[in-house]
Amino acid sequence: MAVRSALINVMVRAVNQAARGLKRDFGEVENLQVSKKGPADFVSAADIKAEQVLRKELSRARPDYGFLMEESGGTDPKPGCDRRWIVDPLDGTTNFLHGLPHFAISVGLAEGDEIVAGVIYDPIKDELFWAEKGGGAFLNDRRLRVSSRRQLSEGLFATGIPFLGSSKDDGVFLRELTAVMQSSSGVRRWGVASLDLAYVAAGRFDGFWEQGLSPWDFAAGILLVREAGGIVTDIAGDRVALDGHSVIAANDHLHRLLAKMIAAAQKGGAPEAG
Ligand code: IPD
Ligand code: CA
Repeated sequence: MAVRSALINVMVRAVNQAARGLKRDFGEVENLQVSKKGPADFVSAADIKAEQVLRKELSRARPDYGFLMEESGGTDPKPGCDRRWIVDPLDGTTNFLHGLPHFAISVGLAEGDEIVAGVIYDPIKDELFWAEKGGGAFLNDRRLRVSSRRQLSEGLFATGIPFLGSSKDDGVFLRELTAVMQSSSGVRRWGVASLDLAYVAAGRFDGFWEQGLSPWDFAAGILLVREAGGIVTDIAGDRVALDGHSVIAANDHLHRLLAKMIAAAQKGGAPEAG
């Protein structure tokens, strides 16, 4: 039985509270799909509401901590405190908007530039992924381990495809995708970076790579992968900075192969077989 610390309990209470509103609002989205205006304004209101609930709950429990939030930006921690919540109240906004039941709330806690705790909650599947630095990664009460596959050819990988208005370079992405799809069992684009990382931690995906991300997309997820025994770097192979934008995550062996393949694709090189 996994024992959750007081800190994890604070985070879980906050995400549960925010999830109640999101689930209610998700039920409404289907009705709004058919209206001419569409559900976009409704969804952004749901997103903002969830963020407000998270801010209220987290600051009530830990008044000194600062915030970095997708919708409302940053607040510094109180003097003498070096901790900051990094929050995505609705990761997978496009899925939510289209009535696709795959989205999450992601809350990471940074101490300085190090992630020390993370919770990612998928309210539809009622899956709670959580990790605390040095304490392992869990899905509900089950301990997580990254997959042990060693061949790219056996691996299932997740990524994010650029879309209209995103900062990603389509040409580079297509080279990366070509390389990975030609050497692996498959590539998925499920639209929720935090869950992609949680699924790597759970061994469901064998690896994940994406560029053009924001800290709230990956803060909690990178800790989950590390605590599940995986390796996480940026696309250049360096430590992921909290103001960075790219992530490669996998088990130790596949991380090396995937990182090499992505680096070659970035330079325009031919895909390498794994
Ligand atoms: C997005 C999702 C998606 C990723 C995008 C993110 P949002 O977050 O995590 O998987 O590909 O880069 O912006 O906008 O749904 O919170
Ligand atoms: Ca996001």
